[in-house]
Amino acid sequence: MDSLRSLHTFSLLAYCSRVETIESVDALIASISNLKRAGVEPEYLIMGEGSNTVFVEDYPYPVLLNRLKGIVIDETKNDYLVTVGAGENWHDLVSLCVQKGIGGFENLALIPGTVGASPIQNIGAYGVEIDRFIEKVEFLDSNSLVLSILSKAQCNFAYRDSVFKQQAKNHRIITRVFYRLPKQYHIETSYGPLAHLISPSVEEVFNEVIAIRKSKLPDPTIFGNAGSFFKNPVIEEAHFKTLLDMHSDIPSYRVNEQQVKIPAAWLIDKLGFKGRRIGDIVCHEIQPLVLVNIGDGLGKDLLTLAREIRDSVQNKFAIRLENEVRLMGKKGFVLL
Ligand code: FAD
Ligand code: EPU
Repeated sequence: MDSLRSLHTFSLLAYCSRVETIESVDALIASISNLKRAGVEPEYLIMGEGSNTVFVEDYPYPVLLNRLKGIVIDETKNDYLVTVGAGENWHDLVSLCVQKGIGGFENLALIPGTVGASPIQNIGAYGVEIDRFIEKVEFLDSNSLVLSILSKAQCNFAYRDSVFKQQAKNHRIITRVFYRLPKQYHIETSYGPLAHLISPSVEEVFNEVIAIRKSKLPDPTIFGNAGSFFKNPVIEEAHFKTLLDMHSDIPSYRVNEQQVKIPAAWLIDKLGFKGRRIGDIVCHEIQPLVLVNIGDGLGKDLLTLAREIRDSVQNKFAIRLENEVRLMGKKGFVLL
């Protein structure tokens, strides 16, 4: 058995049957072929840097770490074409583009994890979601062991969602992501905390986003966490009006004419969960949407606290929170 503690940012104590590092598509194909030979429907997990995956129990199967590398930057008259191996670190890619004066990724600075995971939940922050720049995604079909491409439209991108997340057992292993960034890019400062920047450069937005994130979010190398534990819920207009009558201070973002997004952090804060502790699992004092492991946290305590929060929000606001993180255990995916 191999330890998963240093392989996921929540740093819970858990083991898998073995860890294999994958550095080429050939090695990926060979590894999956071996697994198929060993079992009828082999169970295994492809992982990047484990910043959206939490092992709440042992995972008694192999874990394949995607470390496919390579960055190629081309340009056309109007765009930069950035093609990146799925195992590259996301923030390193953002830094490289900022250094080269290529605008677009800077609002997404300091998001942990790999490039290959960026399309999976359509990473987003500070007014930008990555689907804005994704042209296509290359993946290995683990059934046929053939490389294929999905266009942006086929990826079904939505808030913290894509075709890669919609199936519990995904047979698509992302190998490369193709981004297209327009040279005439309008720097995005519409998100509240960036709105004070007047005609900033790409580098200024990059530095500001890093500063804001450092002030709010716990550093996973100090206190284990996986960023926002829940997604921000989207509710119907009528439901929102009822809540507004009871809580005039409820913040909201309009999604469309019928729907409104509510910050889950506000709901959790309102219920007094900040600082709530079960064992070594704590609801963060500054950003209560983040649950943290302050030492030797246990998966069962994390599940208890997360369920307590989810049920309290349901009872008080009639809103069902969905977890953003992927929980893993001895039978594969764990439902909250
Ligand atoms: P992993 O956790 O390793 O994998 C995530 C899921 O994708 C798993 O189910 C895994 O099986 C699957 N997967 C991984 N790689 C592949 C692949 N190549 N092919 C197929 N499946 C694969 N997210 C945001 O959107 N916005 C934020 O602002 C943000 N802030 C964060 C802050 C902190 C402190 C932390 C810890 C996390 C934050 N996150 C945020 C969540 C996380 O960083 C992203 O979801 C990130 O994209 C996960 O990358 P990863 O490589 O660590 O994925
Ligand atoms: N709030 C409170 N109390 C608090 C903290 C926040 O009421 O203690 C309320 C405030 O009204 C605040 C609002 O919550 O304005 C939103 O807070 P914040 O700006 O910190 O963002 P968020 O909605 O909690 C989302 C993403 C983050 C992303 C930030 C910035 C989700 C689930 N989370 O958080 O993504 O970095 O916006 O864009 O959408 C992640 O996905 O892991 C993640 C960290």
